[in-house]
Amino acid sequence: MQIGTPLSPSATRVMLLGAGELGKEVIIALQRLGVEVIAVDRYDGAPGHQVAHRAQTIDMADGNVLARLIDSEKPAIVVPEIEAIATEALLELEAAGVCRVVPTARAANLTMNREGIRRLAAETLKLPTSTYAFADTFAELKVAVEGQGGIGYPCIIKPVMSSSGKGQSRVDGPDELAKAWDYANAGGRVNKGRVIAEGVVEFDYEITQLTVRAMGVDGKPETHFCEPIGHVQVKGDYVESWQPQPMSTKALERARAIARAVTDNLGGLGIFGVECFVKGDEVWFSEVSPRPHDTGLVTLATQRQSEFELHARAILGLPVDVSLRNPGASAVIYGGVEAEGIRFEGVDVALRVPGTDLRLFGKPVSFTRRRMGVAVAEGKDIEEARSRAKEAASRVRPVGDSAA
Ligand SMILES: Nc1ncnc2c1ncn2[C@@H]1O[C@H](COP(=O)(O)OP(=O)(O)OP(=O)(O)O)[C@@H](O)[C@H]1O
Ligand SMILES: [Mg+2]
Repeated sequence: MQIGTPLSPSATRVMLLGAGELGKEVIIALQRLGVEVIAVDRYDGAPGHQVAHRAQTIDMADGNVLARLIDSEKPAIVVPEIEAIATEALLELEAAGVCRVVPTARAANLTMNREGIRRLAAETLKLPTSTYAFADTFAELKVAVEGQGGIGYPCIIKPVMSSSGKGQSRVDGPDELAKAWDYANAGGRVNKGRVIAEGVVEFDYEITQLTVRAMGVDGKPETHFCEPIGHVQVKGDYVESWQPQPMSTKALERARAIARAVTDNLGGLGIFGVECFVKGDEVWFSEVSPRPHDTGLVTLATQRQSEFELHARAILGLPVDVSLRNPGASAVIYGGVEAEGIRFEGVDVALRVPGTDLRLFGKPVSFTRRRMGVAVAEGKDIEEARSRAKEAASRVRPVGDSAA
């Protein structure tokens, strides 16, 4: 294990595929360790572009374009930070020994599509999940939901390829199904038309079990579990998270057994966000991100090493410390306006809330429901931290020029 000097022939080069707010924090963590970082996104001026050694703008869903960029930049490690990338190209490049893909090209490939990871979890690993079925047409969907032994109502319809709740809706009865089908088709990124229908799990709460695979002293990957993160989702997008989420011993054991099974199978080195639903002592696997998780932004205020530092260390083969420093919470700051080059008012009053900190992502364009920043807070318990984070977030007011 060695790290070279950035911008010299000895450089340890890492390429981030996706340079949003999560990628930006990973890049900062890598920069601190003297790594040379290339940030790639689909638009200029992405958050991670602003803190990397080099910024590249390409269509990452185009395998040829992606392979050409990797060939010219020659990163030792490629780190997918979003789902919508040409993972087939990564599978080929990894197999040919051109670069290492984090955690593995197979993990990136399986998790970019809800079908790949759901079938692995439910059918191969036999983990508990919601009931589910896939459909390519509205007629198929109707049978999958309403047919003999079907999913039934209520259910949730999602495009197989989408994130942050895009194209996702809950259906409570037959007359809402067509609308959900149309919405899923408008919201899916690629592979238009294919959806998953899931039975609704009536959970008490949901968690993200951050799980790190890092190199042990014996040269074999070891699994480390962070304290569970609780969160609230609105329309499939996270608005608030806290750590540690109180859980029964049984439920925590089950969540970690699920997380271990999934991450052992996906392999490689790095952090994973394993999403689970919990009701009493029962736990269901929902999905997994083979990368830092948005709800894990809270770790900026709670852990000795944030999820971003853990990812950076793990992928470089360095040891990690997943310990909690103090309870904490995060609250999302949405754009609230549709405008370019917005200004944030109230940052000073927000930071007067005790124990808080802010991240403003620097996104060039704001949308009403776009995540533009986050407030994080520590507290003596999660209640205090949650109220501090929400108070600080509410004091920040994004404003656009009225002309925009
Ligand atoms: N089968 C289900 N039963 C109950 N709630 C569900 C179910 N599926 C999704 N949800 C709710 O919707 C949220 C978003 O779903 P999911 O994680 O599948 O979507 P996503 O688009 O991948 O979101 P993200 O990218 O933000 O994680 C979940 O965190 C949960 O609150
Ligand atoms: Mg999710």
